[in-house]
Amino acid sequence: MEESGVTDADRARHAQLAQELQDHRTRYYAHDAATISDAEFDLLMRELEAIEERRPELRTQDSPTQQVGGALSEDFAKVTHRERLLSLDNAFTDEELDAWGERIERDLAGQPYHFLCELKIDGLAINLTYEHGRLTRAATRGTGRVGEDITANARTIADIPEQLAGENPPALVEIRGEVYMSTEDFERFNAALVAENERRKEENVRLLAEGKRPHALEKLYSNPRNTAAGSLRMKDPQATAGRPLRMLVHGIGAREGFDIDCQSHAYELLHAWGLPTARHNKVVGSLAEVKEFIAYYGDKNRHSVEHEIDGVVVKVDEIALQGRLGATSKSPRWAIAWKYPPEEAVGKLERIEVGIGRTGRATPFAVLAEPVLIAGSMVQYATLHNQEVVKSKGVLLGDTVVLRKAGEIIPEILGPVEDLRDGSEREFVMPTHCHECGSELRPMAEGDIDLRCPNARYCPAQIRERIAYLCGRESLDVDNFGYVAAVALTQPLEPATPPLTNEGDIFDLSMDQLLPIRALVRDPKTGLPKVDETTGEQKVVSFFANLKGEPKKTAVLMLENLEAAKQSQLWRFVNGLSIRRVGPVAAQALAREFRDLDRIAAASEEELAATEGVGPGIAAAITAWFAEDWHREIIEKWRAAGVQFVEEGGEEEGPRPLEGLTVVVTGTLAAHTRDGAKEALQARGAKVTSAVSKKTDFVVVGDNPGSKYEKAMQLKLAVLDDEGFEVLLAEGADAARAAALPVVEEAP
Ligand code: IVH
Repeated sequence: MEESGVTDADRARHAQLAQELQDHRTRYYAHDAATISDAEFDLLMRELEAIEERRPELRTQDSPTQQVGGALSEDFAKVTHRERLLSLDNAFTDEELDAWGERIERDLAGQPYHFLCELKIDGLAINLTYEHGRLTRAATRGTGRVGEDITANARTIADIPEQLAGENPPALVEIRGEVYMSTEDFERFNAALVAENERRKEENVRLLAEGKRPHALEKLYSNPRNTAAGSLRMKDPQATAGRPLRMLVHGIGAREGFDIDCQSHAYELLHAWGLPTARHNKVVGSLAEVKEFIAYYGDKNRHSVEHEIDGVVVKVDEIALQGRLGATSKSPRWAIAWKYPPEEAVGKLERIEVGIGRTGRATPFAVLAEPVLIAGSMVQYATLHNQEVVKSKGVLLGDTVVLRKAGEIIPEILGPVEDLRDGSEREFVMPTHCHECGSELRPMAEGDIDLRCPNARYCPAQIRERIAYLCGRESLDVDNFGYVAAVALTQPLEPATPPLTNEGDIFDLSMDQLLPIRALVRDPKTGLPKVDETTGEQKVVSFFANLKGEPKKTAVLMLENLEAAKQSQLWRFVNGLSIRRVGPVAAQALAREFRDLDRIAAASEEELAATEGVGPGIAAAITAWFAEDWHREIIEKWRAAGVQFVEEGGEEEGPRPLEGLTVVVTGTLAAHTRDGAKEALQARGAKVTSAVSKKTDFVVVGDNPGSKYEKAMQLKLAVLDDEGFEVLLAEGADAARAAALPVVEEAP
């Protein structure tokens, strides 16, 4: 083996990685601000570990691979934990999880054991010491051996009891848990900061004019984890008291005066002592079931939990066996953290483009210099909503930015990493004109923040986006008519006149019109032309004809599907009109109420507004839409092509088993979006309202239900969880009442 020396590449890389990791850790733990994503951090750490595998002499005590946590703040006294707080090894692949499982199987040599699956709460670790039932100390993890004394701050958190409940509290117990902020509280908290900053900005104008010093603005937090960390470690405990912090326990450290056989039983005990335990934990008998648990929460259910999770912690449940398996210097062998693909990443903001949507809204979006991996997919664009959001986020062109993509949501920019600025960054200036039609952008109504292109009739971007939406899944759902077809039909390079100048002629398209078309390929997310990677030129396609000039199969199918789409349900047409603020839910409400497009067009604003789920704002938008001649012409052309615009009712609609019931949906449901849940209820005849009252028959609560749940409990209404909701949909009101959650009496 090569001996060490100045030219030793391993040594040099080791030193570089160690320094980098140390810097990131300091920023993360001491300043509550990440400068790289968790995934990138893990990657660097793995590289360092690989070097140390090859060159064990580099694995010194101060190597980042041997440390847990990070720098300690000078603001707090240091405390030595009675028992070290270990870290967890990570598994990112099935193979790594299997290898861990095999080692356990081998080390336990035939002993029966179970796995306890828990969610990995993305917060910060806390160690609580209770002596004879009284909280005597709370500390952060710190280095694992020495933490920061945050007792005064912890005492302000309602989830942390001052005194353990029960008759015989143990002489000593160290409780390990995670302090976190729920996603809902985080959003509320940040929104309040944004509002406060807006207020200060307004006042600053006056202060500056009077020659006085302006107020400093509050720094926004980028995620719940950093907010929780910042909130728990404030110098002034009163400031911590004002933050909505929560805690969940996930282990026991030093203890005297009691014994436990299983970790899962320990939680029952802790629960009885009045400590909050996680309700998602599950004990299973095999690694296959562990993987099912991982898959369940990794998929869409990740966001049904009230707090952020970054993985699943798998533990051997039997405490005696945990002891037998032991620990390395850093982490126990009886537990492992499965890490989900992170939902945040950092990237370089190259430029900001402005997209024009189907209702003319001008939306700035970020274009990254390189695509980055977030939540398992490559992302190069992220929305910035409007020019005010760009300003309030404080992002500059050329910034390194933190991006987030959660669930199915479009990725968004959380904010810049200011530490990484080098002075070359420039401010973004919102364009004054639509780049596709040249019209001046402006707010459509007084007080609107969004700027819009007013040229709804002729702006090529608006026509293209409307047609794509009309034929897309949420409206007529025409197979083989995707975004590329919408571009080809509205903005062909050849022939000079497009077959469609608006949506009116959509049902009159003929194969003769399609065959000669050649058009640019555009990205459906941004509307930007796509570029061929090898030639660097914009991609052009002949979308409907093959090389011989004959119709492609997809073109034939597209025309057939368009023909069939004339029979679509009324709401699909209403939604496809791209009336501002009218989405599928309002479109369905209108179709149900009026059953005929002509009746919707003839209805007064008051009649429209009286429709459940419509309201005055939407009603005004509908009236304004029908007031335009060219809009009514579109409908007449469709009618001439054979569209009926009448809801038949009866058979097509199906039975209405929930007719007469009033239901409120609150919180995040596991299997439905909020709109999806509403639609499912309305389709069965239920009335869905937003306010809980005595007249409410059912309150459906998902995770993070908020005050409506409390109100429902006060009124002793029938409350349904995910399962109960499915019962209501499938079996009706009586079965759902039997499946409702028990009413919990508030403790006095
Ligand atoms: S058990 C000895 N369970 O993740 C193992 N940790 O990356 C102790 N965490 O330091 C940890 N949720 O702060 C455990 N359900 C859970 C957890 C959890 C979050 C944190 C904890 C730990 C870190 C390791």
